[in-house]
Amino acid sequence: MLKHLKEHTSDNLKGKHGLAAGDAAQPERPDWTIDQGWDKYTPAEHAVWKTLFERQSKLLPGRACDEFVDGMKNLPIGPGQIPNFEQLSDVLMKRTGWQVVAVPGLVPDEVFFEHLAHRRFPAGHFIRKPHELDYLEEPDVFHDVFGHVPMLMNPAIADYIQAYGEGGLRAQRLGVLDKLARVYWYTVEFGLLKQKDGLRIYGAGIASSYTETVFSLDDPSPNRIDFELERVMRTNYRIDDFQESYFVIDSLDRLLELAKIDFAPIYDRIANLPDFEPGTLLPSDTLVSRGTGRYHDAKRAVVHA
Ligand SMILES: [Fe+2]
Repeated sequence: MLKHLKEHTSDNLKGKHGLAAGDAAQPERPDWTIDQGWDKYTPAEHAVWKTLFERQSKLLPGRACDEFVDGMKNLPIGPGQIPNFEQLSDVLMKRTGWQVVAVPGLVPDEVFFEHLAHRRFPAGHFIRKPHELDYLEEPDVFHDVFGHVPMLMNPAIADYIQAYGEGGLRAQRLGVLDKLARVYWYTVEFGLLKQKDGLRIYGAGIASSYTETVFSLDDPSPNRIDFELERVMRTNYRIDDFQESYFVIDSLDRLLELAKIDFAPIYDRIANLPDFEPGTLLPSDTLVSRGTGRYHDAKRAVVHA
């Protein structure tokens, strides 16, 4: 599971977004980018990558969506070593005009959005420690590269994430970033996709997590609900555990439609409406599968015991 984008919860909007290594000091460059320092990775760090890569590569066939698999196939990403961001960017640039840039850790929201709006994906350059394979405080190079970059090879996702960057700058000015962040969370990070042959993963938070890959698709506990924009914008999410609900789209083209919508009237419409808890089902929901809630109920029972 992945505890990240934590600054984007509605009650903890401290102005840093998304990615990475704790409260890293601001680097010299104003856009917070640093050199990846690929030559400085140690054999032990490459070995952590290899462990994660091989474990996830075994699990994802039949679970990751076709677009993820295609993207991965066409990128210089393999088990042998932590990928080189320049090599990734060369391939991505030709395909969808994106680049991967290295950052040392969490970056301020406006810096993150500026990067996305200009088709630069900020990726944490560090890799988790061997004892942190399944639980991450912050996204590292495995999450950011293995999870996100294959989907950036897809034109729909490429445009959608750029639009999210532009929308993020707007939402920040309007003071509604928490609403927009939920859309990113339940699509780019934890989205599921209906394919002809079944439900598949496209969200990077799932695709880069061994345990959540299994939980999101195979476990009876979570709800799987058809994606509906306003509903998602009003739904809190779990930052420290598996999601209680996953939202499902029919096609990645749905994201392209979202990229074209003017969110301003929606922000107005939902401004005074209540939020929903992550596990709540609504009469208006179209369910792909109703969750038993067993996993999170059991955890709550322990907390309250
Ligand atoms: Fe992410």
